[in-house]
Amino acid sequence: MTILPDDKLSQSTTDTALENEAIREKWGDFAWTEENAAKAKDIVTRYPPGRQQSAVMPLLDLAQRQVGADTNTQGWLPVPVIEFVAAELGMPYMRAYEVATFYTMYNLVPVGRYHVQVCGTTPCMLRGSDDVLAACKNKGMIKGKTTPDGLFTLTEVECLGVCANAPMVQINDDNFEDLDYDIMTDILEKLANDEPVTPGPQTGRQASCPEGGPTTLKHMAEAE
Ligand code: FES
Repeated sequence: MTILPDDKLSQSTTDTALENEAIREKWGDFAWTEENAAKAKDIVTRYPPGRQQSAVMPLLDLAQRQVGADTNTQGWLPVPVIEFVAAELGMPYMRAYEVATFYTMYNLVPVGRYHVQVCGTTPCMLRGSDDVLAACKNKGMIKGKTTPDGLFTLTEVECLGVCANAPMVQINDDNFEDLDYDIMTDILEKLANDEPVTPGPQTGRQASCPEGGPTTLKHMAEAE
């Protein structure tokens, strides 16, 4: 553990207080847009009467997306926004905060326009996730940080459940699979240039079917 000298400690406390004040000033008046108010209402009605607090996860997600739309980023959850969601559901702030801090799908600090989450778990690691990370680093990305232009945030994550198509990354809501250094570089360059990218397997195979087929059980049976 690092022990800060008294003067540094007081500077860091002052910095945090100023930061919190700025966040509260920017997000203290957070409220749903008209469109999201309708969506939030619809989400809450999916739960039985008295169980509306179960809607905390989709509402936090909706709030994060609204912050993202406001900031042209993938979105995050400033404290006042979590407070807003908790108040909407009539639950203590801490209960909503616990949810937001438990699941990595919620960003607790600002992220860039593209949140690049590279899977580094064993199947992806064995299939080349180091090369995928190297492609990201070559574009100036640093783990846990956002690039100075605000475009990319790089995070290394654990298994995202697409092991059959390893290595893979999740960028915002999309998965990109069967990657290597060159393919990842190409995707990042296209995103940076606002060019379209195609999510899913990057080798042309269908979903997680073997490359070259068969692509259905019927074809498999016919081939035997
Ligand atoms: S190990 Fe990477 S998706 Fe499962």
